[in-house]
Amino acid sequence: MTPASCDDAAVHIARKVHIGGPAAHSARASSSGAKTMMRDSVLIIHEELAPGARADELDALVQVREVAGALQRLGVAAPVQAIGLDIDRGLEAVRRQRPTCVFNLVESLGGRGELIGAVPKLLAQAGIPFTGSDGETLHVTSHKIAAKRRMMAHGIATPDWFTAAARPGDDCCRWIVKSLWEHASFGLDDTSVVLGRAAARATMAQRTREFGGLWFAERYLEGREFNVSLLEQGGCPQVLPLAEMTFAGYAPGKPKIVGYAAKWDESAIEYRATQRVYPRLAPPLEQAIRRTALECWSLFGLHGYTRIDIRLDEQDRPLVLEVNANPCLSLDAGFAAAAAEAGLSYERLIEHILKAALPQETGLLKHAV
Ligand SMILES: Nc1ncnc2c1ncn2[C@@H]1O[C@H](COP(=O)(O)OP(=O)(O)O)[C@@H](O)[C@H]1O
Ligand SMILES: [Mg+2]
Repeated sequence: MTPASCDDAAVHIARKVHIGGPAAHSARASSSGAKTMMRDSVLIIHEELAPGARADELDALVQVREVAGALQRLGVAAPVQAIGLDIDRGLEAVRRQRPTCVFNLVESLGGRGELIGAVPKLLAQAGIPFTGSDGETLHVTSHKIAAKRRMMAHGIATPDWFTAAARPGDDCCRWIVKSLWEHASFGLDDTSVVLGRAAARATMAQRTREFGGLWFAERYLEGREFNVSLLEQGGCPQVLPLAEMTFAGYAPGKPKIVGYAAKWDESAIEYRATQRVYPRLAPPLEQAIRRTALECWSLFGLHGYTRIDIRLDEQDRPLVLEVNANPCLSLDAGFAAAAAEAGLSYERLIEHILKAALPQETGLLKHAV
């Protein structure tokens, strides 16, 4: 199920192999393209944040700053527009600026992850090009259960799960209770991992009381965790070096999960104890992980860039935890780190994402590569 015209063997970016010329070339070339730059712009859009936004929500602004910096270094004007629940107003502001392309960093609207697809759907209707996946793909992949159903129907392995509405089953196994729509490990800590369905139901009810929204229980996999970053080049997904998340500093018995504190609380033990590494894997395992990620790309019609989170089961088979159609693009997050491991500068990464979104005929970036 890899894209028909994309050869998996051909699309692998070897470690430390630099793709193309130095990023400085892009910045230098931009001065000769000054005339084009005045007309063209890439409008960065992000969610309008409410006062008291959480660390994971504020991260949108870090991404905006870093993506804008990279675009400017590429010689591209990069204004910024926040979009809130009043989508018509947001879209009107986008239209007024007549961008050549929109760089879509909207992860939710009004703090609601289920609205992730709304803006790109409307941009598509308005004929405005935008980076990343389309609204439908963002919507389906963000609904963790809808995504799992689709994967199972197409033979892509993902852990078993149940919701609060499910009929009682045998009281087996360890489960992890996760948010259906929210990402960034929202609501995930050690108490999210429980033994038995009854405990999982109780935790789902507790999370709904505490945070609202929908929660479900997924079979907890103790196996190794991999983040697979895919970057589109020439219409085909390139698999960036496979990153493994390690939990070396976790006490025995502590659930090996990248919870909220591990991602966002710099003072937490978990933040320091979780480390990203790029291991040399046995070829069959590496192939199985790559194949699974590429099948997801194909199945969901992903576009531009994406990160697939995978864990191994007891037989070392890769199971998909989730498909991140718009993974965090901060410099210190997994996607940029995998690109750097492949020898791609941050500017080059942003340039590839933009090029995948641009119509052929645009003059934007014509001096950059
Ligand atoms: N089924 C699972 N088994 C073991 N750990 C899991 C499982 N699901 C999630 N986790 C842990 O929780 C983290 C966050 O879960 P994930 O499904 O990737 O949601 P998100 O990153 O969108 O919050 C994962 O990186 C992993 O460490
Ligand atoms: Mg994840």
